[in-house]
Amino acid sequence: MTVINRAIVLDNRPEGEPSTSNFKLVERLLPELADGEVRVRNHFLSLDPYMRGRMNEGKSYAQPQPLGEVMIGGTVGEVVSSKNSHFSVGDKVVGMGGWQEYLQVPAGARGVLQKVDTTHIPLAAYLGAVGMPGVTGWYGLTQIIAPKAGETVVVSAASGAVGGAVGQLAKARGCRAVGIAGGADKCAYVVNELGFDACIDYKAHGDVKSLGKALKEACPAGIDGYFENVGGMILDAVMLRMNAFGRIAFCGMISGYNGEPIPMSAPQLILVSRLKLEGFIVSEHMEVWPQALKELGTMVATGKLKYRETVADGIAAAPEAFLGLLKGRNFGKQLVKLT
Ligand SMILES: NC(=O)c1ccc[n+]([C@@H]2O[C@H](COP(=O)([O-])OP(=O)(O)OC[C@H]3O[C@@H](n4cnc5c(N)ncnc54)[C@H](OP(=O)(O)O)[C@@H]3O)[C@@H](O)[C@H]2O)c1
Repeated sequence: MTVINRAIVLDNRPEGEPSTSNFKLVERLLPELADGEVRVRNHFLSLDPYMRGRMNEGKSYAQPQPLGEVMIGGTVGEVVSSKNSHFSVGDKVVGMGGWQEYLQVPAGARGVLQKVDTTHIPLAAYLGAVGMPGVTGWYGLTQIIAPKAGETVVVSAASGAVGGAVGQLAKARGCRAVGIAGGADKCAYVVNELGFDACIDYKAHGDVKSLGKALKEACPAGIDGYFENVGGMILDAVMLRMNAFGRIAFCGMISGYNGEPIPMSAPQLILVSRLKLEGFIVSEHMEVWPQALKELGTMVATGKLKYRETVADGIAAAPEAFLGLLKGRNFGKQLVKLT
């Protein structure tokens, strides 16, 4: 039976802000399944901020996305045909399936496709709270900030896939968790649904002084750990409130992903407050993923880790949804439903 695979390729590279014209929808016939191969019908595609970096040419921690090829991306789906003894039709799997409806791969190599158990955890959660974003939050919090009970942890982009996990994991460790997010709705969700102690709407503050004042109110004992997702004014304001020997996990700096300059206005605070700043890339720490996924999976299965999803419909909607993610139009984990 002939199967047409609809996919999104990177057509050209953006200069500054990306647009839908950087992407192209293509239809390709899937070849016959070869020995050792598995065909997966992707159910959900994960859209993540790192994809913006891959659209650029030039030096980064990862290779640029090649032009004309299917955009990189994490997917979950179901095996629909298999010529590989390790996979059966009906298996639910997670992998780097890309922005496309089907993934057809030799599935022998370790890590290409992982089977997942959907008895207590919804399939899509393996792209969010029990997937790469959840592990990212877990890593930065537990391995870099390493908070003690009673300490105050602040996280930016707090309503998002990573930020939401950070605050809840911090609460589970007996910390005061304070979020920073864009808009009253997101802040209400962070406090009322996710259980943070407070959340500051950075859009209601025009400068570092005003945001700093709000941070002082929300963090009366200062800030011991900061999980950085944004950069710019938010980082400057947090730095001013950091306690001596505070730790900052540099996870993302989304306010500069289109090449905007994001200077740090008072680096002397690193010295004065004896701060530890450490950047990390979660895929370089595969050794802790099993431990992180165990905690995250248990928390999701028992309802202790909450999350929200924004779901775009169909592969053709992926570029617009991705641009929305970069502008904060997502509310929680941004997914694309492909079935
Ligand atoms: N280091 C790693 O290995 C690693 C792995 C995964 C993710 N990350 C990083 O983690 C961060 C969060 O990722 P995520 O997947 O959880 O995305 P997300 O938080 O679900 O979505 C991105 C959010 O960033 C916020 N944002 C966008 N532009 C902004 C700006 N100019 N100023 C302030 N906030 C802005 C928006 O929230 P608001 O509406 O609240 O502004 C938007 O919803 C990103 O920086 C990402 O690059 C790093």
